[in-house]
Amino acid sequence: VGASRVRMIRKEEVRAWVPERPYDANKGHYGHLLVMAGHARMWGAALMSAVSAYRAGAGLVTVAVRGDAVPPWLGIHPELMTAFWNLPEEAPALVEGKQALVVGPGLVRFDGDVSWLKALLGKVRYAVVDAGALEIWKEAIESGWRPSAQVVVTPHPKEMARLTGLDTAEVQADRIEVARRVARSCGCTVVLKGAYTVVAGEDEGVWVNPTGNPGMATGGTGDVLAGVIGSLLAQGLPPGQAAAAGVYLHGLAGDLAAQAEGLASMVATDVIAQLGPAIRQVV
Ligand code: APR
Ligand code: MG
Repeated sequence: VGASRVRMIRKEEVRAWVPERPYDANKGHYGHLLVMAGHARMWGAALMSAVSAYRAGAGLVTVAVRGDAVPPWLGIHPELMTAFWNLPEEAPALVEGKQALVVGPGLVRFDGDVSWLKALLGKVRYAVVDAGALEIWKEAIESGWRPSAQVVVTPHPKEMARLTGLDTAEVQADRIEVARRVARSCGCTVVLKGAYTVVAGEDEGVWVNPTGNPGMATGGTGDVLAGVIGSLLAQGLPPGQAAAAGVYLHGLAGDLAAQAEGLASMVATDVIAQLGPAIRQVV
């Protein structure tokens, strides 16, 4: 069913979607992204998402950290801005004035509260919901709530299994239909990660990504992807295009990293370093 609506993502369409840089551009044209991610033992997730968002063209990127410790990236990536929060009820204010949100990479769930995520997704136009935010998302959706934000969820197969109640093998045996079904039921765009990543739009169109390689099975590459998609959303791409262009460019950067470092040795920061060359190859 609907097989004719399953297409490979092509370089030419990604080229057409990626925003141009006219000579009189200013950073206001490329959006301000808030990255709500990381915690004491996984702050690298926040750093990688945020730097990837800059590399994919966002005008401004702010990282929201819990607590008030000096963020460990200040010296390495001074282009990042920082916001602080502690209590769930402090979260929604942070997203004011931002065009898009990435929430979840390296984020650890605190208590049973889902209201902060609902409030955030009621205040921003576009959001990527990944990793640690997916369980909270699931709970909110199952209670009948729907966000006013247009949301892209980015589960890997195991996270998709938790979202659907299937086991991982069942997800993998029917990737396209599972992604399509989740997209339909939540009214969001679904990125089911792994080899031949599937992007299912809320309109039931499906793309399959031809780029990427098994060298990307290394910690942090998913955080990079969340940042890239968030960046394209902040730049104004609609969710389906941001997700499809994001997975294509992320996979291509992974292919360039594999050429340079080898499948076994490449790490997530190598993928970040190849985002620029990947974008240059496409546009
Ligand atoms: N071929 C192509 N692409 C691949 C392959 C492959 N064989 N293996 C992995 N990838 C890509 C995926 O498509 C995805 O974009 O690498 C990325 C991996 O993302 P994640 O699985 O989210 O990996 P990571 O960022 O390390 O996240 C691991 O975060 O999501 C949580 O529960 C997860 O704690 C874990 C951590
Ligand atoms: Mg992940």
